[in-house]
Amino acid sequence: MRLVIDLRSDTLTKPTPGMLAAMAEAEVGDEQYREDPTVNELQRRCAELLGKEAALFLPTATMANQVALRAQTRPGSVLLAEERTHVLVYEMGGPAIHSGLVMRGAACEAGVLPAERIEAEPELGPGGIVVLENTHRSAGGRIWPLDGFAAAAAAARERDARVHLDGARLFNASVAAGLPPAVWAEHADTVTLCFSKGLGCPFGAILAGPAETIERAWEGKFLLGGALRQAGIAAAAMLYALDHQVERLADDHARARRLAEGIGGDVAATETNFVAIPDAPGARERLRDRGVLVGVLRPGWLRAVTHLGVGDEEIERAVELIPEALAVPA
Ligand SMILES: Cc1ncc(COP(=O)(O)O)c(C=O)c1O
Repeated sequence: MRLVIDLRSDTLTKPTPGMLAAMAEAEVGDEQYREDPTVNELQRRCAELLGKEAALFLPTATMANQVALRAQTRPGSVLLAEERTHVLVYEMGGPAIHSGLVMRGAACEAGVLPAERIEAEPELGPGGIVVLENTHRSAGGRIWPLDGFAAAAAAARERDARVHLDGARLFNASVAAGLPPAVWAEHADTVTLCFSKGLGCPFGAILAGPAETIERAWEGKFLLGGALRQAGIAAAAMLYALDHQVERLADDHARARRLAEGIGGDVAATETNFVAIPDAPGARERLRDRGVLVGVLRPGWLRAVTHLGVGDEEIERAVELIPEALAVPA
C-alpha cells in the first residue's frame, strides 16, 4: 500500500495511547450540573495558565469564539478583525446570527491588524469587539508580535470595545516565540484555546476571561447545546495534552521549517506548523496523485500543516514529492 502523507490540517491528529489511557481513567460527573471534577480541574488550570479569573470548557473553538462574542457585545455593534480571520470566514456567519454583529474585515499583512486600522474604524465603539487571531491561520500560522498585539488591544479599549483573542493555536505561538500564553492573554478580555489541533485531543476548547463574562458565556454554551454530561473524558485528554503535548509542538515547527526549506518555500514566514504553497490549476490533485494531501490556506495558496501524525521520514518524502508535482505543467 502506498504511503499517504496527510498534511491537510493539524486537526487530523488522533489520541495517543497515553492520552487514551488518561481518558479511560478519567473521574467524571455531570458537567451540566458543574459536577465533573476533571472538567472543573481543566477550567481551573487554564484560567491560571492564561492569567484570567475563570475558564469554561466547550466542545469546539468555534463555540468558544461564538459564546465569547455573545457574552460581550450588543446587537448592531461592530466586530472588527483581519479579513481572513476564522470568526469572519469559517464560522458560518455566526457573529451576525448569534450576536447580531456587523462584521467588518480589514486587509492586513501577516494577519496582523494594526492599531491605526482599529483607530480608523468609524463605527467601532461600546458594545463592539475586536478579534485578534494568534497564530493566524489564513496568514500561514503567523505569530502576533507582542508589542503590536498590545497596541491593537489598547486601540480597541480606547474606543470602549472589547478584545477577543482567538488563540486556537496560541500554544504554537507560545512555544515558537518562547513566551508564555499569558503574555498575549493579558491584553485581551477573553481568550479561546483549542485542544483538537496540534495538541492532539479528539475535541475540546477553552474560553477564559473575567468571571462575570464567563458566567454569561456559560448561558451561551447552554443555548447552543454545548453543555455536556460526562465531559471529563474529553477534559482528561486536554489535561494530558497540557502536561505532555505542548513542548512537542516545537517538533512540528522544525518539520515545517525543514519542509519550507526543502521545497524552496518562504522559510522566514514559516513561523509555526504551516507551510504556504502557491496554488496553481490542478496542483492539489497532482499532489494527491503522488500521495501528498494538502489543504487550502487562502485564495491562491495551499497549506501543508505538520502535526503529531507526521514524522521526519514523511517530511523528507514530501520534500521530494511536492516540487515534482508542482513542476508538472497543468
Ligand atoms: C484560528 C481558528 N479558530 C477557531 C477554529 C475552530 O476550531 P473548531 O474546529 O474546534 O471549532 C479553528 C479551526 O480550524 C481555527 O483555525
